[in-house]
Amino acid sequence: MTDTGKQPFERHKKLEKNVTLLAAATFLTVAVGGIVEIAPLFWIDNTIEKVDGMRPYSPLELAGRDIYIREGCYTCHSQMIRPFRDEVERYGHYSLAAESMYDHPFQWGSKRTGPDLARVGGRYSDAWHVQHLRDPQSVVPESVMPQYGFLADTPLNVADPSANLAALRNIGVPYTKDDVAKAPADLAAQADPEADPGDLAARYPKAQIRDFDGDPARVTEMDALVAYLQMLGTLVDVNSAAAQEELATEKGR
Ligand code: HEC
Repeated sequence: MTDTGKQPFERHKKLEKNVTLLAAATFLTVAVGGIVEIAPLFWIDNTIEKVDGMRPYSPLELAGRDIYIREGCYTCHSQMIRPFRDEVERYGHYSLAAESMYDHPFQWGSKRTGPDLARVGGRYSDAWHVQHLRDPQSVVPESVMPQYGFLADTPLNVADPSANLAALRNIGVPYTKDDVAKAPADLAAQADPEADPGDLAARYPKAQIRDFDGDPARVTEMDALVAYLQMLGTLVDVNSAAAQEELATEKGR
């Protein structure tokens, strides 16, 4: 072997024999690799592409979502349709990243004792949901889902709807100051067809305004939960141009 061929090998031998040097060189290599992966995330505003139709939850939907979390529905239900044929055929178009961009915390879930709920909105009537939540076994006899009839007997009591929206606004959910101020009125109006909804529908496009629990006399936790369930997966038209664009870039990645 010539001298020139020997040198790089000799140098590497030195590195292998000196444990401190080897550790330092290993650390440096891993650190560079890590920085290359992580650093870009600090410079881009968002890793999720916006899709037409996605909007923050209305105060009533948000209250329903809080009940969903409080009752632990996520321990049996996921909200993320994966791009597998069996899931897409059963639940509908697979979930887009943008569809959970305002979720804090997200409800993707990993436990599927029950079906995925990402696109359950509009699949059943309100009356079906109320009956199913009261007594799941009355509509699906073999169901292992617990009964939640008490929700229909519990008046909806959100301590401070404006504070809930303000907290989400602080972490980047694009509620306007107007949305925050009007939250208590919006909350009451969405479940009461007699009330004046004001510009609720303009600020929350596709918000469903009606009595959800079959008891128009009062707003219950059942109203909020059913309003939330009926909204799931209905905001984004997954066949729209914007959604298709996101899908195209996702595929390109
Ligand atoms: C112990 C597990 C479990 C828990 C907790 C649970 N569910 Fe279910 N859920 C199921 C199972 C199993 C089914 C399928 C059988 C049926 O329809 O009852 C189901 C079905 C459903 C369906 C019908 C979905 C469809 O596409 O047919 C909805 C809606 C639903 N659950 C909502 C809820 C909500 C809201 C909560 C919390 C208040 C909840 N579930 C809590 C197990 C659970």
